[in-house]
Amino acid sequence: MTDEAVQRGLEDVVALESKICFIDGKGGRLIYEGYDIRDLAERSSFEEVAYLLWYGRLPTAPQLEELSGRLRSMRALPDGVRRILEELPPTTPPMDALRTAVSALGSFESTAPVAAGPTGIGGAMRLTALLPTIVSEFHRRRNGRAPLPPRPELSHAANLLYLLTGTDSSPTDIRAMDVALILHADHELNASTFAARVTASTLSDLDSAVTSAIGTLKGPLHGGANERVMELLREIGSVDRAAAVITGKLARHERIMGFGHRVYKVEDPRATILRGWSRRIGEEKGNLLWFDLLRQVEQVVHQEKGLYPNVDLYSGSIYALLGIPDDLFTPLFAMSRVVGWTAHVLEEYADLRLIRPKAQYVGPENLTYRPLGERSG
Ligand code: SDX
Repeated sequence: MTDEAVQRGLEDVVALESKICFIDGKGGRLIYEGYDIRDLAERSSFEEVAYLLWYGRLPTAPQLEELSGRLRSMRALPDGVRRILEELPPTTPPMDALRTAVSALGSFESTAPVAAGPTGIGGAMRLTALLPTIVSEFHRRRNGRAPLPPRPELSHAANLLYLLTGTDSSPTDIRAMDVALILHADHELNASTFAARVTASTLSDLDSAVTSAIGTLKGPLHGGANERVMELLREIGSVDRAAAVITGKLARHERIMGFGHRVYKVEDPRATILRGWSRRIGEEKGNLLWFDLLRQVEQVVHQEKGLYPNVDLYSGSIYALLGIPDDLFTPLFAMSRVVGWTAHVLEEYADLRLIRPKAQYVGPENLTYRPLGERSG
């Protein structure tokens, strides 16, 4: 048996080298390929950040235009996948529908699921372009409505909002979605990205790696937290109830979704930016209830537990105000994080090492095998 110390949850274990993302947990900074997320959220677009994460540098204008054009051209779902989505019961959790559709994609495309190598960026683009169409198609069918065709004239954020809400959105709403997509695009070796890299490290294909990641992101301790934050806000209902509800939950040792983080020891810089957008969109829509409730919840949780908000605290309030149903919030997270997942998979392919840690064996030893007839109880 190994006598090395066990790091439960691989906490603080440095598993590999990567150029893609740096998290300064103590300083509360998030860096994509050398660029601070605050600059990117302020000045960039999701398409530009996707280029940065896949190619490792910001694009020139022609390069960005070429990438945007390719993404717009890849939004249509194969008919076979549309039929699978049509067969799914309307009660299917949207993350299960997304996972199922991504698993099936390769079977309905002439080209094989993307294997290793720089060509993988084409496969990464295709998944990034298709995830909004998959979620929209499932969502509209479960409500008995005909699917909406993607609109090639719209940017990624604008097309995504149109597909999920069925309406044209204002420039401010589209910018809010674009910023949310930028902020969720990558986050170093979070659980779902690590799952994708473990899958890729066996030389399995890109679609299988993203399927692993989707199943991992679904968990409420990871991507599923944003949906549960909205459930909490709806449970609280009014600002004057916030303190009592939260202190009650904490007294019962319940976790308050949207707070705490394995790496950040101060406020998650993404939460800071999303708080500002939650307020701005609330003011634009004349509905600051969610923002006001969240400010109260933040105050109580920090006072009682010293915990800071993470990326999941404010994202749902923005999505709800943009007209997106709660159970599509985690699929939204996936629509953005698919860029980070695929960037990490391609990095793994480029410098491959099978990921295989050890376990500390604590089971029984030296037992004697007894024939079936001689065993009792
Ligand atoms: C994401 O890894 C990533 O980067 C993920 C992510 C990304 O972009 O990919 O940032 C996205 O997943 C954000 C996190 C979303 N999840 C939640 O909001 C769920 C609620 N948060 C927690 O479950 C928790 O904070 C984790 C899972 C996020 C981190 O947990 P850790 O590092 O394993 O910390 P822990 O469970 O050991 O908790 C340490 C202490 C405990 O107190 P004690 O039992 O020691 O007294 O802090 C407490 C915990 O009880 N605590 C909480 C809490 N989070 C930690 N108490 C109440 N509510 C919380 N949310």
